[in-house]
Amino acid sequence: MLSPAGKCSFSFALDAEGAPTYRLFYGKKEVVQTSRMAVMLKDLPAFEKGFSIVKVDSMSYDGTWKPVWGEVASIRNHYKELAVTLQQASVNGRKWVIRFRLYDDGLGFRYEFPAQQGFKHFIVSQEKTEFDLVGDHKTFWIPGDYDTNEYAYNTSALSAVNGLAGGVANEIHARSPIGTNFVQTPLMMKTADGLYLNIHEAALVNYPAMNLEIDKTTFKLTSTLVPDAVGNMAYLQAPFNTPWRTVLVSDKAADILASKTILNLNEPSKITDPSWIKPTKYVGIWWEMHVGTSTWDYAGTQDGTGLENAASLKPSGKHGATTARVKTYIDFAAKHGFDGVLVEGWNTGWEDWFGQWKEDVFDFITPYPDFNVTELSAYAKSKNVHIIMHHETSGSVTNYERWMDQAYDFMNKNGYTAVKTGYVGRIIPRGEHHDGQWMVNHFNRVAAKTAQRRIMLDAHEPVRPTGLHRTYPNWLACEAARGNEFNAWSVGNPPEHETILPFTRLMGGPMDYTPGIFQIKLNHFTPSKTEQVHTTLAKQLALYVTMYSPLQMAADLPEIYEQHLDAFQFIKDVAVDWDDTQYLEAEPGDYLSIARKAKGSSDWFLGAITDENGRKAILPLTFLDKNQTYVATVYADAADAHWQLNPQAYKITSTLVTRENVMNIYLAAGGGAAVRFKVATAEEKRTLKKY
Ligand code: NOJ
Ligand code: CA
Repeated sequence: MLSPAGKCSFSFALDAEGAPTYRLFYGKKEVVQTSRMAVMLKDLPAFEKGFSIVKVDSMSYDGTWKPVWGEVASIRNHYKELAVTLQQASVNGRKWVIRFRLYDDGLGFRYEFPAQQGFKHFIVSQEKTEFDLVGDHKTFWIPGDYDTNEYAYNTSALSAVNGLAGGVANEIHARSPIGTNFVQTPLMMKTADGLYLNIHEAALVNYPAMNLEIDKTTFKLTSTLVPDAVGNMAYLQAPFNTPWRTVLVSDKAADILASKTILNLNEPSKITDPSWIKPTKYVGIWWEMHVGTSTWDYAGTQDGTGLENAASLKPSGKHGATTARVKTYIDFAAKHGFDGVLVEGWNTGWEDWFGQWKEDVFDFITPYPDFNVTELSAYAKSKNVHIIMHHETSGSVTNYERWMDQAYDFMNKNGYTAVKTGYVGRIIPRGEHHDGQWMVNHFNRVAAKTAQRRIMLDAHEPVRPTGLHRTYPNWLACEAARGNEFNAWSVGNPPEHETILPFTRLMGGPMDYTPGIFQIKLNHFTPSKTEQVHTTLAKQLALYVTMYSPLQMAADLPEIYEQHLDAFQFIKDVAVDWDDTQYLEAEPGDYLSIARKAKGSSDWFLGAITDENGRKAILPLTFLDKNQTYVATVYADAADAHWQLNPQAYKITSTLVTRENVMNIYLAAGGGAAVRFKVATAEEKRTLKKY
């Protein structure tokens, strides 16, 4: 079968053992060699071989839909479909359907277990979907792991992957690496002849996440699922459809970033009236805890007797989320046009939450004595700002499930319209993993429940996203990777990190990366602190454009922004919702330049970033609207800037440009540039210089 414009093709066949197989081509190049597809069951014969083909249905589809928010105003869903119905004569004629959707940028397929006589409840013990690659591709990988995706990326040939490396010290709280040959998806690869490949999944619902095992001599990847506490993978009932397995391919890296295939494979929005969902820029009582100038807890270290209760706590004097401090953030947000103020550490429990498998730590409704809920709700409302709720579960998800309804009632009552959830630590029920079926169901239940309550959602430490924000557009963002916070208290994120994330983690959906750190060296806050952010200040600005999210934090402290109001202006101006996006240049691990057109406006924004190597970005402005002159305000690294040696040196210049111009912007080592293009006024046309 050929894709709509003929760029990709694939074929399906049963092999000599009656096992289903597929092959995928990009043009004439084979991308996936004959690969088997199988699902193993506990105590029942596998869906693996001995099949015959009952029927083959094909169709094509071409439609367009409008996301509630996004990188573009409308999305074309254009594919050819093949649904193969198979039958296993030796298992009472049991039926199975494999559905393929072929796009011009890749293939998606899923397994369907139809309702049928004698086959209802079943337990998946493993899935063996193969991706038999044609070579030892260069790959951008993090270790396969059942609990965390907060690793730094490695770049190596498939044969050189070491899935047990990369977990540095204890900086990731709950790790369950699978083994030497295992990696996570989205897995980004580049072939020797210049093809870019990306393997992931779409619409992860009621099923565990997929990791991949690498055969280092044949370069065949095989799926492996995340088990539950007793070693099973999924408890299912027919009819059931698995998530889609996706293979994206192009000879241009930018096409991988532009792909909408994962979103298209997800179900349409379940929210009929999305008018309350608002892309949001926010500040918050957050970074100050990560850099250590204040604390989540109210009372500091307790005496260890475990007898403390909220009433008997004595203030340590370092608590961040005080009524007074929250008010200064609300004032700052109102003054500078931010919609939200995240407040962490507002509720009791933080004195003794960190560790493993602690039960009943938080209740999500009891504030500390110095956080006045009613007063702050009224104050925020008077300033037209929303406080963003924080629900750290400490991994005790049974506890959160018990409190969820009350917690969301509390939010509705007090005017909170968004919640940030968190899952630090091992999961309770004990033995479950962050990426297993039980937790996948929990994360999706939170999305559905918050949607019913008109609450927007930002999940930290969740399973990696798979495009479910199409179905639940109230689910604005997830963390699900190594965020900027790692720069505050670990070896940090190397300068190439942000050039890889869009090709990996962000393939599944927006990331709450929390950019905008201006105070790069953290000894500013505590002299003994040796950590630093591994970028220049200008690159932190560029991230608002390169790291797509409808939820963006200005993560640094108000006091720091007050010292750099000229650079802060970009964060105030930058949009969080877009009508159009153009990927100007991209190479995973090296650099990235993206231009986006603000929703309902002629303004454009551009972000360009580089890794540890400085470079000159050459940027034709052909994306700009025709017959318009723009003021281009460039926030760039100074000539002597360097992420390590001189990270805060930037310069801001404004000139007149049109779509005929080509901009040359110098990006320092570990640096970047941000540009705002605003339609010029008559006055500006007279007074400003041309580029
Ligand atoms: C980890 C989250 O990523 C971070 O944003 C949060 O501040 C802490 N957990 C505490 O909940
Ligand atoms: Ca985290």
